[in-house]
Amino acid sequence: MAQTTTQLQKGGKTTKLIRPMYTIIFCFLLVYIHPTSTIEMWWNLGLQRVEVWQKMYMVGAQPMCVALKGLSPGQIRICQLFYDHMPSVGRGAQLGIRECQYQFRNRRWNCSTVNDESVFGPVMELGSRETGFTHAVSSAGVVYSVSRACQEGQLSRCGCSKAPRPPTIHKDWLWGDCGDNIEHGYRFALGFIDKREKERNYPRFSRGLARMLMNLHNNEAGRRAIYKHATVSCKCHGVSGSCSLKTCWQSLPDFRSVGNRLKEKYNGATKVRFNSRGTRLIRRDHKFNKPTKEDIIYLDDSPDYCMAKPEAGVLGTVGRECNWTSKGLGGCALMCCGRGYNSFRKKVQERCHCKFEWCCEVKCDLCEYFVDVHVCK
Ligand SMILES: *[C@@H]1O[C@H](CO)[C@@H](O)[C@H](O)[C@H]1NC(C)=O
Ligand SMILES: *[C@@H]1O[C@H](CO)[C@@H](O)[C@H](O)[C@H]1NC(C)=O
Repeated sequence: MAQTTTQLQKGGKTTKLIRPMYTIIFCFLLVYIHPTSTIEMWWNLGLQRVEVWQKMYMVGAQPMCVALKGLSPGQIRICQLFYDHMPSVGRGAQLGIRECQYQFRNRRWNCSTVNDESVFGPVMELGSRETGFTHAVSSAGVVYSVSRACQEGQLSRCGCSKAPRPPTIHKDWLWGDCGDNIEHGYRFALGFIDKREKERNYPRFSRGLARMLMNLHNNEAGRRAIYKHATVSCKCHGVSGSCSLKTCWQSLPDFRSVGNRLKEKYNGATKVRFNSRGTRLIRRDHKFNKPTKEDIIYLDDSPDYCMAKPEAGVLGTVGRECNWTSKGLGGCALMCCGRGYNSFRKKVQERCHCKFEWCCEVKCDLCEYFVDVHVCK
């Protein structure tokens, strides 16, 4: 805008009128075409059907990577170079989304998805703890699925892990075989996921820079939740299972335990702000420890998520089931935000009295019973 005024003074009569008009129209379009600038995310690959990945092998990477929604320009280029990795990225995103929904099932914000490329909707525009968690858990998902795909021989550029033998392994046991390639999974996730954050330059102290730094930090926290917690699996050999000899290999941690660990990091997340130069994020409150690279950080306090605010992507808790006996997060008092709840009885059918019949059938009765269901007003 400032630029237009200087040009105005230099320009002739016609530009005097036309330039500001174009500027106004342009600003108007910016605001109205992109009302909330809902962020497109690669997480969208987690919502693709299997057919999309099958098509990739038939149509080729060039057109498919451009057609996939949610990728940034740099991620499209990585997609074209590493297109055999893309189904794993999709599986990783899906793993992350499902784990998020499991971890938050009893919470007011339950990690619900919307039907567009932002995946979690406008709530992600806030630099909240919840946003931090979704970034961490989804990048952990990609490390996990790519590491496993290497080990299974599905990818052309990686194979089994060549991680060195850990000193803790018993000296008589064999090391090697074919471990999960967490080194490759980590490197690929780092390159692919962080790419979209690094494509733009933001000025010091800007909101854009703050969000970029927050996202990069939480992406790394997610990747570390996998690779710092790699485990060892072993297999027995020897005469009739005597287990006199063991072969061991590097193994991924169970993804549920990764989710649990990140949920703890969410509970203890650190609120951050810019340093005095406006270039880095530091903890807001010096009473708390400095966040490590494995911790989740956030910029903004969360809303209470009680009432629906569609423009902010908040669904509210009206109609959510709650636990009548619990005083905790899934309990009716907290879930319903003090509005109270309605109760009704629901008929449930379940297989019961199952008997094993020789050979080889399981016979069950169908039992009916009633359960009380409580739903927030
Ligand atoms: C999350 O909560 C909304 C209502 O707020 C509900 O419609 C949806 O089914 C829930 N989703 C999950 C995954 O539990
Ligand atoms: C409700 O909460 C209680 C106490 O926290 C717990 O024992 C019970 O399993 C919960 N019920 C359901 C249906 O989740």
